[in-house]
Amino acid sequence: MSLSGFEASTSLVSPPLTSAVAHPPLRLGILASGSGSNFAAIAQAVEERQLQASIAVLIYNNPDAQVAARAAQIQVPTVLLNHRDYASREALDQDILKTLRSHRVEWVIMAGWMRRVTRILVDAFADRMLNIHPSLLPSFPGMHAVEQALAAGVKITGCTVHQVRLAVDSGPIIAQAAVPVLANDTAASLQARIQVQEHRLYPVAIALAAQQAARLQPVSDLTSE
Ligand code: GRF
Repeated sequence: MSLSGFEASTSLVSPPLTSAVAHPPLRLGILASGSGSNFAAIAQAVEERQLQASIAVLIYNNPDAQVAARAAQIQVPTVLLNHRDYASREALDQDILKTLRSHRVEWVIMAGWMRRVTRILVDAFADRMLNIHPSLLPSFPGMHAVEQALAAGVKITGCTVHQVRLAVDSGPIIAQAAVPVLANDTAASLQARIQVQEHRLYPVAIALAAQQAARLQPVSDLTSE
């Protein structure tokens, strides 16, 4: 991933991405439920070859999600798995896992996936499953993170990309970007500025996570594609 000015213009992102450790091209499976602006940012980074990856599949759970149209437009295969059709979270996750495997997904990227995950996905993908959250975790996990930050009166908030664990918004942090809270901010204005940083942060964080994973792998694994 080329950083092209990211660190220079964003005060807080950790750790810095280096080109010292390359990673093999990644096959991503994206899970999203909403408008898909983060999906679009990742797709653009892939298209511009800033992120060495391909998007193997988009899984979405809400039939009305705009993200599906965005994916279809760029010929990314889409699969609707509507949680309302399942008797349990486990049954849904079993189908998600089946779908990810059938598309040979290596990294699961949650981009506005508003569902709790079960052990079925967490165990299968371990550290290769990432989520983005609109706060500087561990502050303000869960729903309404932006409103929570405003209510608490914090002067700086931001966004976090982290590995996914069973507890909501709890896994090891990969990278963060800070966003100042302005005196006249509403939830909508603050969220919009956080999203600008999310779109810049997520592709970088995916590359960082892949670098970290590659460091843990023997060199032979990286070259035997
Ligand atoms: C993002 O703001 C992310 O932080 C949260 O869900 C939102 C998804 O937005 N987890 P979009 O669908 O990517 O526009």
